[in-house]
Amino acid sequence: QKRELILAFESSCDETSVAVIENGNKILSNIVATQIKSHKRFGGVVPEVASRHHIEQVTMCLEDAMAKANVTYDELSAVAVTYGPGLVGALLVGVACAKVVAFSHDLPLIPVNHMAGHIYAARFTNEIKFPAMALLVSGGHTELVYLPKENVYQIIGETRDDAAGEAYDKIGRVLGLTYPAGKQIDEMAHRGSDTFSFPRAMFKEDNFDFSFSGLKSAFINKVHHADQVGEKLNADDLAASFQQSVIDVLLHRTEHALNSFSIKQLILAGGVAANQGLRDGLDQLLSRHSDVELLKAPLKLCGDNAAMIGAAGYVAWKNGEVADLALNADPSLEF
Ligand code: KG4
Ligand code: ZN
Repeated sequence: QKRELILAFESSCDETSVAVIENGNKILSNIVATQIKSHKRFGGVVPEVASRHHIEQVTMCLEDAMAKANVTYDELSAVAVTYGPGLVGALLVGVACAKVVAFSHDLPLIPVNHMAGHIYAARFTNEIKFPAMALLVSGGHTELVYLPKENVYQIIGETRDDAAGEAYDKIGRVLGLTYPAGKQIDEMAHRGSDTFSFPRAMFKEDNFDFSFSGLKSAFINKVHHADQVGEKLNADDLAASFQQSVIDVLLHRTEHALNSFSIKQLILAGGVAANQGLRDGLDQLLSRHSDVELLKAPLKLCGDNAAMIGAAGYVAWKNGEVADLALNADPSLEF
C-alpha cells in the first residue's frame, strides 16, 4: 500500500494539537499542548484565553509534529482540521493554520467534525466494523451515534440538558475540586462506595436520550443541606454514588440501543470514555451481548488530540470530502 500521510490539526477547546498519521491508522506523531493550567483558576475554559494560547502554541506544535514524525511537507498527502463544533475563536486558529499549510504546499484540505474525530480515536484500538454504534461522552456532548456505514453518522439520542463531562465538572466544583474534575471524581469513586441514593433519569419511552441535570441538582442540594446542618459527608462516597448514577444512565440507554439496532461494534469515545467505572460497566454489559464487539478508544486518546482528527480525516478524504480555502469554523456544527 502507498504510504499516505495526513497532517492533522485540533484546536476546538483547550488543547492545541498537531499530528501526522500514516494510512489513517498509525500515529507517527501526536503533539498535544494543554492549556488546562491557565483555565484552572477560572474554574472552566475562558474562550479568549483559549484562542490566545492556541495562537501561541500552534506553530511549535506543528514543528514538533513534523520533526517527531520525521517527514517533509513534500511527503504529505493531505491536511485535516477540526472545523467544529467548539469555541469559534479556538477553532479559527487551527483552521487558519491548516489552510496556510494546504495552500503553500498545494495539498487537499479535509474538514473534520470534532465528534467524528472522537469516534475515530477508537480506530487506533482496532478497525471499525459497520454497522456500528458509538457512545460519545465528552465535556460538551453526550450522544448515541449510529454509523450504518463508513463516513455516515446519525445521532439517535442525546442529552436533553447537561453533557456527562459537564455534570462531572459542575459537581466537582461543589466538592472543591479543580477543573476538569472528571478524572479526580473517578479516582475518588474507586475509594468510596455507592451509599447515597441519587436519582437516575431512566426514560421509559422508546428513545435514546439522556439527562443529567436532575442528578446534578440532587447532588448539589445534598451537599448544601449537609453544610447548613453542619453534617460531614464522605466525599469519596459522594463521588462513588454520583458516578454510579451517571454510569447506570449511560448503560441503560446504551443497552436499549443494543436491543434496537443490529450492529457489529459498540464504540466508546470522548473525554469521559477515560472513566474506569464506565469502561468496566460496558465490559459487563457487552458480556451479555456476545454478538457485539466493544471497541474502546485508547485511554490516552480519549481527550482531545489531533491523531483522532487525522484518522477521521483520512476516512472523510477517501469519501471525497475536501474543502476549499473558504472553509470557515462552525462552532455549532452537527453531524
Ligand atoms: O472530549 P474532551 O476532552 O473535551 C470535549 O470535547 O468536551 O472531554 C473533557 C471532559 C471533561 O468534562 C472531563 O471532566 C471529562 O471529560 N473526563 C472524565 C474523565 N476524564 C476526563 N470524566 C469522567 N471520568 C474520567 N476519568
Ligand atoms: Zn472533545
